[in-house]
Amino acid sequence: MSALELSDIQGTVLRGRPMPYYGTYLVFTVQNPRSALTLLERLLPKVTTAADWEAPAENAWINVAFSHAGLSKLGLPEDVLSGFPREVRQGMAARSAFLGDVGSSAPENWDMPHAGNGLDIGLLIMAGSIALRDDKIAIGHAAVSGLPGIVAAHRLDVGLPPTMREHFGFVDGISRPYIEGQGGTPLPGQPIAKAGEFVLGYENELGEIASGPGPQELWRNGTYIALRKLHQDVAAFRRFLRDNANSPEGQELLAAQMMGRWRSGCPLAKSPERDDPAMANDPLRNNDFLYLKEDPDGRVTPAGSHIRRANPRDALDGTVVDMKLHRLLRRGSAYGGVLPEGVMEDDGADRGLVIALINANPGRQFEFVQSQWMNDGDFISEGDRTDPFAGRKDKADDFVTLKPRKRYRGLSQFATTRGGEHLFLPGIGGLKWILGNVKPA
Ligand code: HEM
Repeated sequence: MSALELSDIQGTVLRGRPMPYYGTYLVFTVQNPRSALTLLERLLPKVTTAADWEAPAENAWINVAFSHAGLSKLGLPEDVLSGFPREVRQGMAARSAFLGDVGSSAPENWDMPHAGNGLDIGLLIMAGSIALRDDKIAIGHAAVSGLPGIVAAHRLDVGLPPTMREHFGFVDGISRPYIEGQGGTPLPGQPIAKAGEFVLGYENELGEIASGPGPQELWRNGTYIALRKLHQDVAAFRRFLRDNANSPEGQELLAAQMMGRWRSGCPLAKSPERDDPAMANDPLRNNDFLYLKEDPDGRVTPAGSHIRRANPRDALDGTVVDMKLHRLLRRGSAYGGVLPEGVMEDDGADRGLVIALINANPGRQFEFVQSQWMNDGDFISEGDRTDPFAGRKDKADDFVTLKPRKRYRGLSQFATTRGGEHLFLPGIGGLKWILGNVKPA
């Protein structure tokens, strides 16, 4: 096991967001490669690394990522560009049929730019206060000021709603893998993942060094982010609960069965009958569970629930699927105002989740999970049935529980894709390689 080179890895790869958090995604379009290189040069000293992870010098950071189209516009050589994974080269919009981004989720309905229409460079800003966030935004704007041919194409603010929950009412951000070499100690139940699953330049679960061809300085300590903007139809979710349970307690249980956790974050696996807020708030207990021994059929945590689909833990042991190859590191954040409690009709406002899924191999990590586990039910013998929250609903719109044995029909598209891209987040050495090796035309 080699220690991770924290001072070369961009902060967001290893650092969770502060609580509460105030973040902004800024999207830039490149029309002038020379300006883009100057922008990069100006940004380089400002990029926050993971080195201050344990003791952050300031509770705010700025990270920079590129779409493949952006790297191409910057002028990376063809032989290097062709070394990126197919999913990144094609861009997420081109992957829409495979990813189930169809109908209302189709790219023509997206409102956040993607590689095909303006997302060349993205700045990811996260901070513990609005003032700190604004300082970082000012740095981003200063870096582009006076540069011709760099267009500020989009801004999306994110932040923890006053409810301290994501918009469907769940506490989020509990479960994530522990990355070998990250420092500290894993929490009970936290799987230990080889660093190469999340950071290029290190050994992955296949025993290979995760990397790309050609200049190793470009890849080392870099990674990929599958960025998704997911609009949430909160009123439709509330109506679904109301129409399918005949008491407030029944609604809470149904919501918990769909998620696999009570809204407090307490896992059903640890407290099947009722919510246990103390358990939810205890990091030594709230993620310490498996499925196979106690609950192989999904009587407690339904096989089709969100967390059991997204991370089946040991439930698929003994099958052809190797869970270790499909892990995701999530950085989710909410956008948009809260729909007031009790409101059952949509108010037309845009609210949802921006989910940044970090992975070193987008094909066997994010794209596998989205296409096989969110948008299909074959792996749990549930045919075309999909994830209640993050699955497409044009193939199937039902959800089943075994206790009580019940089939709930008529789930609607509670989450609709409004944007998405595979981005490359280079290490500091990678950013320097670009500056040193790409010559403006
Ligand atoms: C609007 C859509 C979504 C919502 C509201 C949502 C919400 C949640 C919540 C509340 C949790 C439980 C908290 C936790 O374990 O940290 C969770 C876990 C998780 N979600 Fe999602 N999520 C959404 C979409 C997605 C998507 C698209 C993916 C990946 C393709 C995903 C992957 C995961 C994973 C890997 C976990 C951790 C499961 C575990 O380790 O037990 N989620 N999500």
